Amino acid sequence: MSIYILGIESSCDDTSAAVLKDTQMLSSVIANQDVHRKYGGVVPELASRAHQQNIIPVVEVALQQAKITKNQLSAVAFTRGPGLLGSLLVGTSFAKAFAMGLDIPIIEVNHLKAHILSHFVEDDVQKEHPEFPFLCLTVSGGHTQIVKVNSASDMVIIGKTIDDAAGEAFDKAAKIMGLPYPGGPEIDKLAKAGNPVAFSFPEPKIGDMDYSFSGLKTSFLYFLRDRLKEDDDFIEKNKADLSASIQHTIIAILMKKLRIAVDQTGISQVAIAGGVSANSGLRNAIEKEAADKGWKVFLPPFKYTTDNAAMIAVAGYFKFLEKDFAPQSIAPYARGGF
Ligand code: KG4
Ligand code: ZN
Repeated sequence: MSIYILGIESSCDDTSAAVLKDTQMLSSVIANQDVHRKYGGVVPELASRAHQQNIIPVVEVALQQAKITKNQLSAVAFTRGPGLLGSLLVGTSFAKAFAMGLDIPIIEVNHLKAHILSHFVEDDVQKEHPEFPFLCLTVSGGHTQIVKVNSASDMVIIGKTIDDAAGEAFDKAAKIMGLPYPGGPEIDKLAKAGNPVAFSFPEPKIGDMDYSFSGLKTSFLYFLRDRLKEDDDFIEKNKADLSASIQHTIIAILMKKLRIAVDQTGISQVAIAGGVSANSGLRNAIEKEAADKGWKVFLPPFKYTTDNAAMIAVAGYFKFLEKDFAPQSIAPYARGGF
């Protein structure tokens, strides 16, 4: 018998619901919150309020598009954390009440594990998934991790950032250049017309498979401050080269540790996940490495790079198979790893 999971994602500024039939995506609906744009970042209070407004309509549309009734659902999976607490509370409370009304179980999902498991959602564009074990470079606005994925439930973080995330490095560099938020996609666009070695920035000296990005932001800031003293229009004149160079440096940092991870684990199936996995430079760099070194790489379709509920539903599916259900007393968490 097929399993129908409703997934709910509300950890940051996207209210999202998706329905999966086993791992097959039937619908995936996202309400973006434009309200944050003018503030140059996500305002938690406004995010919670927008989730509260969006959640019921988004779920209704997801069920309609999936062409099923709520009574056919097997379980409701929701993001428990990490994320903004007020935002998580909306999704968690909704999932509890909805599941209680239908007398079906709830399944708590870790947002970061879900980003990784998004590779297992099947649809018209994603037909292949990695085999266990594989490595996943998770790069988002809040996290940067290299994960050894032994199974859907057994994941080990073998490298992580000690300060900023890769997405933050993109966003902060963009902010310094006066680009709109979120800056990652803006830098990606501008970088296409720029020279990636026009300017060079120092890479961090940090051990093992860990990352650090806060020093890069500081050196970018100081570099521009010095150049602006000589020429007020320096940023405007060099936007493309600056974007290409900072992107090139971030990717070089990411790839260096990923290579070490492949060498040390002997695992050459490599996936990427999270918002920054949409970056065209990173995707090219991974594909080039795959061609040079014989890695098998998995690049998610763009719709699964940023936050979405299909990844929450597929993570819920794996837990459903294990009957790993959550009690109604469960509470969300803002921070933490797996
Ligand atoms: O996974 P995500 O949607 O949210 C979090 O869980 O953090 O990731 C958002 C991050 C932002 O920092 C955004 O700038 C970055 O992903 N991002 C990109 C690109 N698209 C999104 N960074 C670089 N290049 C892109 N094309
Ligand atoms: Zn995310």
